[in-house]
Amino acid sequence: MTAHSSRPDRRTFAIISHPDAGKTTLTEKLLYFGGAIHLAGEVKARGDNRRARSDWMKIEQQRGISVTSSVMTFEYDGLTFNLLDTPGHEDFSEDTYRTLTAVDSAVMVIDAARGIEAQTRKLFEVCRLRSVPIITFINKVDREGRPIFELLDEIADQLALDVSPMVWPVGMGGLFEGLYDIEHKKLLKPSKEDNHAYRGDATVISGLDDPKLESLISENARQNLKEEVELAEVGYAEFDEKAYQSGDLTPVYFGSALKDFGVEQLISAIARHAPGPRPQPADPEPVNPDDPSVNGFIFKVQANMNPAHRDRVAFMRLCSGRFRRGMKLNQIGTGKAISIHSPILFFAQNREVADEAFPGDIIGIPNHGTLRVGDTLSENSQDLTFTGLPDFAPEILRRVVLSDPTKSKQLRKALDDMAEEGIIRVFHPVIGGQWIIGVVGQLQLEVFISRLDAEYRVAAALEPSPWQTARWLACDDPKILANFIATHQSSIAEDRDKAPIFMAKDGWELNYVSERNSDIRFLATRERR
Ligand code: G4P
Repeated sequence: MTAHSSRPDRRTFAIISHPDAGKTTLTEKLLYFGGAIHLAGEVKARGDNRRARSDWMKIEQQRGISVTSSVMTFEYDGLTFNLLDTPGHEDFSEDTYRTLTAVDSAVMVIDAARGIEAQTRKLFEVCRLRSVPIITFINKVDREGRPIFELLDEIADQLALDVSPMVWPVGMGGLFEGLYDIEHKKLLKPSKEDNHAYRGDATVISGLDDPKLESLISENARQNLKEEVELAEVGYAEFDEKAYQSGDLTPVYFGSALKDFGVEQLISAIARHAPGPRPQPADPEPVNPDDPSVNGFIFKVQANMNPAHRDRVAFMRLCSGRFRRGMKLNQIGTGKAISIHSPILFFAQNREVADEAFPGDIIGIPNHGTLRVGDTLSENSQDLTFTGLPDFAPEILRRVVLSDPTKSKQLRKALDDMAEEGIIRVFHPVIGGQWIIGVVGQLQLEVFISRLDAEYRVAAALEPSPWQTARWLACDDPKILANFIATHQSSIAEDRDKAPIFMAKDGWELNYVSERNSDIRFLATRERR
């Protein structure tokens, strides 16, 4: 029982990984264990369904990557799990980073043959900034992987984390004979009958000297397992829930998402060890989940989830209070109160209209553009602001050239929608009429042009701009800033919030100008509001 036993307990988490490590496969298996998918066949059906739903996004199909993220809710062991999916492609890290501000913990999936990869490390760093606790799942033990100690040491060294192995694979690849659950002294053997998806048979043993082991695994495997586990017990930290919850230690699970092996150990670990809703950083003070009034923030907006309806859904993380359908919440900073009549909860089987929701839950709020990423919604407060949602300075800047000038209204709408989703940044130079869009990766440009055509029927081209990079400007003295802007007009633009931006031709110019204007801060990230 937790301190919050009066309300349903939540596990709100995300999976972080490098593409191909097995995030999608693991997600499907977690949903399966959570009863959200009943048959192996449905996994496929769900995949097809999902692809059909996002038919409009040609890029997604062509590249075989997921560029949209969603929320999946399922039950396990009396708890409600909210899994926030994050796009894995590096060009979409901005969306991913924001999603990570809405979770209480994360599962880091690592491919046993590859170890820590570039994207794993980046996402881990974002988790570390917020001390998000991480459970590690080393996937694909059914295939030949790297030596176990090497993988564990790599996590410990590269991420500066204590590692605590909770299960140990009995061989890998062709020599794989099962998993040893160190925590519960159980040997898990794959069941032979059905090698498509199997749970495995568990045998409780008294330890690695238990004679029962002789009939369970080969002599060779027994010897190796004993030696390895003894070494691991001396070499690695013992599991400590406090150290895990403060982000200093990661418990490590091994398994195979594809073969359904070790997944139940993982989900049970999330249930037992991962934190429920944590206090969320905010001004004037953090919001505690026990606060009885409803407070939340928008971490993501998605336009055109259903192209036939041109709808727009804002995703709100509920941080405190009991949300009830039809409630009115203040949109901080605008003075507006918004009635939320048709909130959406994201059950994997069917999108349900929510009647109530609790801290840790994600609520989809259909709207026509009133809600924006970073918005705080509050039942009672007029001045509370959740903090820490980052904006990233673009690395590629392009001019948008409209083929048909009568479509400028549609272009404006498309720019607005896609900027809101975090696909692009939009800037308006103070001199000249053309829009500049900025992105952190090339793929975003392709998504932009493709969606412009498919969803808004606007033909446009992207032309090189004279600028390569951009920085937000900040200065304690408004006069100095105004003077800088006046004297650098041809390099100044405004973003959608009218915040001033300096655009530089290259890194050298940026350095040169920033060194000569040391009172002004040239910011690569900007915290929203
Ligand atoms: P991602 O979302 O992290 O990008 O990874 P995804 O789940 O799509 O998995 C990437 C590839 O790795 C897939 O193979 C998938 O079947 C495979 N995979 C995932 N988990 C395991 C595992 O535990 N063991 C083994 N051996 N393979 C695993 P693919 O050939 O690219 O795709 P598919 O044709 O199988 O769908």
